[in-house]
Amino acid sequence: MLTVKLYGVIGDPIAHSLSPVMHNREFKELGMEAYYHPFHIKAANLEVAIKGMKAIGVEGFNITIPHKTAIIPFLDRIDPLAQAIGAINTVVRENDQWIGFNTDGEGFMRALQAEWKEELGDERVLIIGAGGAAKAIFYTLLSKGIKHIDICNRTVERALNLIESCPYKGYSSALSFAAAEDKLNGYTLVIQTTSIGMYPNVDQSPLSLSRLNQQAFVSDIIYNPFQTAFLKLAKEQGAQIQNGLGMFVYQGALAFEKWTGEMPNTKRMTEIVMKQL
Ligand code: ATR
Repeated sequence: MLTVKLYGVIGDPIAHSLSPVMHNREFKELGMEAYYHPFHIKAANLEVAIKGMKAIGVEGFNITIPHKTAIIPFLDRIDPLAQAIGAINTVVRENDQWIGFNTDGEGFMRALQAEWKEELGDERVLIIGAGGAAKAIFYTLLSKGIKHIDICNRTVERALNLIESCPYKGYSSALSFAAAEDKLNGYTLVIQTTSIGMYPNVDQSPLSLSRLNQQAFVSDIIYNPFQTAFLKLAKEQGAQIQNGLGMFVYQGALAFEKWTGEMPNTKRMTEIVMKQL
């Protein structure tokens, strides 16, 4: 029987993950006998790693690239929202079973509530991008009752697929970037989920923001660079902006809460992550 409870994150690569420092600091601050370890797991070893972690008594773990979808067959149960999203970022041990969750979308929503406003519902939302991150955010927002969410993507068909395959129904259109630029003034919340703005494309923005509504709240899930070219443009237009640090912190905080029953201090988590950037 382990006296120190063991948690971790599995991925490939994993060395640069900021999760260990964030979780270990909170375990320490909250006086918990627990440790969070980065496990470098290659795709070929995924199944044996998941079984092995159960055998050695790991309490729970996070999953990052490239295992978020591949892990599903090796878990005992999947939360319905995570099942719909088709990706798992958090696993909890319950009665010796591995239960899979996705806290990415809810992490995004909590950060939005913390940095913008608590009551969400009537927003007119534009999501830019139709990859895995967009899917987690789109499905979660719809599942929480935010009904007006359009998606624009370079490949419009991918945006359409995402809308059509979603079990939570709302009023959504799939748009080209050009169409989204035309309609931009009508959105009160704009969420950038593509990799445009990350190294080496740090000077690029997916959309021109000349028609941005000045009252809009604009979010980019990237936090390195800390302020993308897209967010700089939004700020120049007078919009309130948010980078992806809050989403990262809250997805971790929600995982921590599922494992320990205690919500950690997200302000302290944000500070420690910022120090590493
Ligand atoms: P993630 O899981 O991080 O969201 P992904 O599934 O690879 O990553 O999705 C990447 C997203 O960024 C997609 O929306 C992709 O657009 P396409 O579906 O058209 O490929 C978008 N993206 C990445 N690079 C892009 C670029 N140079 N221009 C436009 N869109 C880009």
